[in-house]
Amino acid sequence: MKKQFIAGNWKMNLTMGEARSLAEKLCDESDNSDAVVDIGVFPAFVFLRDVCEILRGSKVYVGAQNMYLEKSGAFTGEVSGAMLRDVGCTHVIIGHSERRTIFRETNSMINSKLKAALSCGLKPIFCVGEKQEERDAERTNEVVGNQLSEGLAGLTSEQANELTIAYEPVWAIGTGKTATPEQANEVHSFIRNTIKSKYENDTAQCIRIQYGGSVNAENADNLLGQPEIDGALVGGASLEPGSFLDIVSAAVRLS
Ligand code: PGA
Repeated sequence: MKKQFIAGNWKMNLTMGEARSLAEKLCDESDNSDAVVDIGVFPAFVFLRDVCEILRGSKVYVGAQNMYLEKSGAFTGEVSGAMLRDVGCTHVIIGHSERRTIFRETNSMINSKLKAALSCGLKPIFCVGEKQEERDAERTNEVVGNQLSEGLAGLTSEQANELTIAYEPVWAIGTGKTATPEQANEVHSFIRNTIKSKYENDTAQCIRIQYGGSVNAENADNLLGQPEIDGALVGGASLEPGSFLDIVSAAVRLS
């Protein structure tokens, strides 16, 4: 059985003091959750170095919420994968729906970012998901299928093995509206079949597919209990150690 992976996307939240104290609490308390669940946090760029230092040697991975697709150069305001590795990150979120919609990231940019991340040894969480109007028009599989095929273009199965995929229906992010466990499971299984048709069966079976979109301590059991759901990408509920660790505990219970 795959280890569940619970990741906290802190987005553009917290002060340095709050980020440090959240990291310190997770460092102390995550020691109690045995090694059956992977845990990761994704603070804003400016907090990464401190959070990496606090969590060094703990079981909690640290990653960034985004990175640029080039290695270095005149790209004012951007951060490279090598810089993230340099401060101690092991992971990076690529293609979050807020990056796609607010910052106009295309599937092709996301594809380049995935390649750039993998080439410097970062493990990406690759996000996909449909908007409300796309679901209403029964275009979920088409949209998610395109995001996968364009996002993964040119990636070898060895590279695909390094990925986590996060299925995050855009209408469920930050809205308090979650996909039902069955709706999520159905899309997860579509994603796994798509991976299977692109790569070997082993890759499809090994790759972890997280659900994201208003996951909290109350709905975590039902969502994580679905056979195709291998973890969660948590926004709002990851900003409090209590609610985040309750989600981790749900994953531990189900392991
Ligand atoms: P949410 O965010 O849990 O606040 O809905 C999830 C995400 O955007 O990753």
